[in-house]
Amino acid sequence: MEIKEIDKNNTDTLEQLKAMLVYAFPHAYADCADEEVETLISDDRILLGAFDNDMLLGFIGAIPQYDLTGWELHPIIVKKEQRYLGIGTALLKALEDTIAKKGGITIYLGTDDEFYKTSLSNTDLYEDLYDKIKNIKNIGKHPYEFYEKNGYKITGVIPDANGLGKPDIIMAKRIRKLQDENK
Ligand SMILES: CC(C)(COP(=O)(O)OP(=O)(O)OC[C@H]1O[C@@H](n2cnc3c(N)ncnc32)[C@H](O)[C@@H]1OP(=O)(O)O)[C@@H](O)C(=O)NCCC(=O)NCCS
Repeated sequence: MEIKEIDKNNTDTLEQLKAMLVYAFPHAYADCADEEVETLISDDRILLGAFDNDMLLGFIGAIPQYDLTGWELHPIIVKKEQRYLGIGTALLKALEDTIAKKGGITIYLGTDDEFYKTSLSNTDLYEDLYDKIKNIKNIGKHPYEFYEKNGYKITGVIPDANGLGKPDIIMAKRIRKLQDENK
């Protein structure tokens, strides 16, 4: 497996990427996958792929949202039959290295819980939020745990972002050492 920048002019790779988007998130992209691919290949964004020769095994993207210091991770997808093999972790690491080289400090993301996969769903997050975050349980293989295993922390939620009781879970990671600031 090799991780490298996705060639934004390679239509074969972009078709594979589009198929992965629709397979992973049909509710979001089934009817607008072409538009989403267009935004993912915008000049200011980072888009990295994990390849086995010409076959795309997974990809990860990021958007500079606070100049170059704060980047939003969006999206990360590993092909279904290639999951739990470390590819997602390798993609995250490659993204962190790429962003650090551009002067980034923070990577953050929103990981929706729209299908009641964590204990943060179906509850009023305006009450006892910090206890609820501290005691979060993964009910159905929600990916927040994948990010936690890679050093990301839950820093907040957007209550009801996807409908009542269906929050977006906000996670972040500092990718630069604090003492670097003083150099
Ligand atoms: C989330 C995703 C990118 C993870 O990729 P992956 O290649 O399977 O992840 P890795 O193999 O690197 O997993 C690293 C660790 O996270 C764990 N993990 C991965 N996905 C997990 C999940 N959904 N729930 C709980 N733990 C998970 C793995 O078990 C592994 O743990 P270990 O180190 O204790 O063995 C992949 O499952 C995917 O594409 N899912 C569909 C799209 C998606 O949900 N994207 C994220 C939207 S916010």
